[in-house]
This record gives sequence, C-alpha cells and structure tokens, in this order.
Amino acid sequence: MKICMIGTGYVGLVSGACFADLGNTVYCVDKDQEKIDMLNSGEIPIYEPGLKEIVKKNYFSNRLKFTNDLAKAVRFSDIVFICVGTPTSKKNKSADLSFIFDVAKKISKNISRFKIIVVKSTVPVTTGDKIEKIISKIKNKKLFEVVSNPEFLREGEAIRDFRYPDRIVIGSSNNKITRKLESLYEPLIKKGSIFFSTSRRGAEMIKYASNAFLATKISYINEIANFCEKTDVNVEDVSLGMGLDKRIGSRFLRAGPAYGGSCFPKDTKAITVTADLFKTNLSIIKSVINSNSNRRMLLIKRIGKILSNRIKNRKITILGVTFKPNTDDMRESTSLIMLPYLNNMGAKITYYDPSGEKNEFKKLKNVLFSSDLSEACLKADLIIIHTEWDEFKSIDFKKICKNKNLKIYDMRNLYSLKKMRSSGLSYYSIGR
Ligand code: UDX
Repeated sequence: MKICMIGTGYVGLVSGACFADLGNTVYCVDKDQEKIDMLNSGEIPIYEPGLKEIVKKNYFSNRLKFTNDLAKAVRFSDIVFICVGTPTSKKNKSADLSFIFDVAKKISKNISRFKIIVVKSTVPVTTGDKIEKIISKIKNKKLFEVVSNPEFLREGEAIRDFRYPDRIVIGSSNNKITRKLESLYEPLIKKGSIFFSTSRRGAEMIKYASNAFLATKISYINEIANFCEKTDVNVEDVSLGMGLDKRIGSRFLRAGPAYGGSCFPKDTKAITVTADLFKTNLSIIKSVINSNSNRRMLLIKRIGKILSNRIKNRKITILGVTFKPNTDDMRESTSLIMLPYLNNMGAKITYYDPSGEKNEFKKLKNVLFSSDLSEACLKADLIIIHTEWDEFKSIDFKKICKNKNLKIYDMRNLYSLKKMRSSGLSYYSIGR
C-alpha cells in the first residue's frame, strides 16, 4: 500500500520504517528540514535499538522516503497517518492539539482522491470528530474517512512492539475501511496479534485508559513497596504472588522510582482534564498522578536517611539517568528532580549513562558526567542505580569501588537481596 506518516518522531519514524519493512511504500514527512536531512543521510534522530538497520534497508530498497513536502506525500498516499506530538499544554494539563489540527488543515488542502486518514497520535476522545469537521470544511466527506489507530509502542522496545503487538486497535464506524486497515496489518495478525475494531471514540478512549491503567499498576505496587519496607516484606514476592492471579497479571508490577517518559505522565494528566470537561471525576487517576509526584521526594528523603542526613560533600554516583533503559530519553525522569536536589544539598555527583552526557545537567556545579562506569564508581560514598540498563546488572562493587564504607541504593532491585547481604555490602533497595 502507499502510505504517508506525518511526523517523524518516535511513533511516525518507527511505524513508518516497520510498515516499509512489511512491503509498503512509505513517505515519512516532517516540517523539520534538519531532521529530514539527517534521515536522508542515514542518521537516526532518536535512540532506538534496531531502528537504524530497518531504516537503512528500506531506504535503499526505495520503499522508505523522507521529505518535508507534505502535499506531495499526501497526494501519493492511500493512507495518511497523523503521528505528530500532543504535548501537555502550557496553559493547563490538557493535551495540546494544535499540531494535530494544523496537520489536518494541511491534509485537507491536498485531498484529490479518497484518503484514509489515520490518527496514531495519542489524542483525547472526540478529537477524531474535530479532525473530521476541519477537513469537511474544505473537502466533501465522501473523499475521506478519519480513523483512530492508537499505538502502544514502548521506547527501547518499539521494533519488537510493532512487529508483535498484543493487539491492533482500529476505531471506525466504516466497515470497508476497517477491513482495509486489517489487510495493512495482516502480516502481524497472521503471526498472532489480535485485531480489534471498535468506534473511533472507543479507540481513542482505549489508548488513554490503557496508559492510565498501567500507570496505576505501577503506582499501586510502588505504594505497596513503601508498606513492605515498614513490615520487612519483600515486594518482589508480593508482585510475583499477585501476578500469578491471571486476573491481575505479572507485568508492570515492578516497584521502582516514579514512572516517567513521554507518555504516562502526560496521558494521565490529559485524560483527567478531558474527563473533567465531560463532568466526570477520574479520582483514581488523579490520585495516581499525586502518588507518582510524591514518590520523587519520598525516594530523595530515603537517600538522606541512607547517608544519615549528611549529604554535603558526599560523593554520590548515579548509574543511569534516563527514565528507562535502551533510550536516551530524559522526559519526566526521576533523575531530573533527584540530581539537582542532591546537588543543592551539597553532594558531589558523578553520573554515568550508556546513552551519554545530558544537557539537563551540564549547568549544575559539582555534577560530572563520566563515560566510564568503573571510573564513575571508584571513589563513591553512595552508588544509586536509577535506571536498569543491562550493564548495571552484574557489577563487582567491591572491585570497582575503593571506599570500604560504600553504600548502594538499588532503585530497580537488580541484585539479589540474599547475595548482597551475605557479601557484607551496605545495600538498600526498593520494598525489600
Ligand atoms: C509507555 C507504554 O508502555 C506504551 O504502550 C505507550 O505507547 C507509551 O508509553 P514507555 O513510556 O516507552 O511506554 O515506557 P514503559 O516501558 O511503559 O515504562 C514507563 C515508565 O514506567 C518508566 O519510567 C518505567 O521505568 C516505569 N515502570 C514500568 C515501572 O516503574 N515499573 C514497571 O513494572 C514498568
């Protein structure tokens, strides 16, 4: 099929490359010329394992093209995916839809034959109706159909998530269009993914409700972890024991720092704002937002306790600062609050992250980036494991750190409690 993806951010680029890999011809469009130039010269603007290879392969097979010419790409395509960002609005906590509406207007000017317009961006329920209204001001409704097809890709695992999704959700009341999109996704459905169709508003709601539910699951186990710490219970056993109940499920029950990233914090806020507009109080999600925001300070206070509240001049090494591993994304990472706070308290911080130095910390005095894990840990009083990168999973702390009184705060429970206790290291973790 002939496809165009408008917006070559995370969703558009990964989906575009993967659709091309399934044999479709895909135009990836972005207004950012620098990004398009980068992509045309073989560089990938985001950090995503495996993406570069897929882009390269399909680019040279002529199935994947990058352009800033939206008009040309829309005219060429049968299916137009809208994949632009919906960041949190500067005015309130709602999703800023200005990029979406702007793109809808541009698309409307370039429809000369029938187009399926698919909204992949995460948008509040009823946005599809608004897009339809914008386009129908200029073009006859018979010339287009607006469909919702939310994405569920996780950063760092996006290629796998695209190829083996649990489900593909299509929201449309037009059966013929639904079947057409089903055939686009057929290679994935054949491998076992479930195709689920519903109304357009239903699909929009599924996306937000899913993300808010996952965020709730994480906050839930994080609060249970707090309770476990007070009662000498191992939260990992609780997660495992709970997860064995198929009604609960074992995934997303890992206790850790506050959840972060580009989706959960933004989407939980946006769904509550939209619900408020519809006079519905999503009190559970509101309390999840609150719990997650309190968690950042809670963990920082725990660091204070571990250091007997003497933070000034202590050497603290932070391993991993991104919100999760296999990404360079810092958005809403707990480290963004933790590092400046500890820095303010007079700590001497060294951080190491496999994805490199971060601009966010460059201006902080007494915060240094080290490109070498061993060097970063050498003189530490306290090592904090903030992100669960694979290379942090089997560190020989006694070998790489000279300090006999070294303390370790493992915020991702990467190490066996039993082994760490028997090694004599001063080891702290989450909920155990
Ligand atoms: C999420 C959704 O999973 C994905 O479906 C959606 O499309 C975009 O948002 P992502 O933000 O890439 O994906 O990361 P995810 O792996 O879901 O983790 C989000 C946050 O939750 C991270 O901060 C992570 O560390 C945290 N998390 C996740 C936990 O603390 N515990 C868990 O058990 C799982």
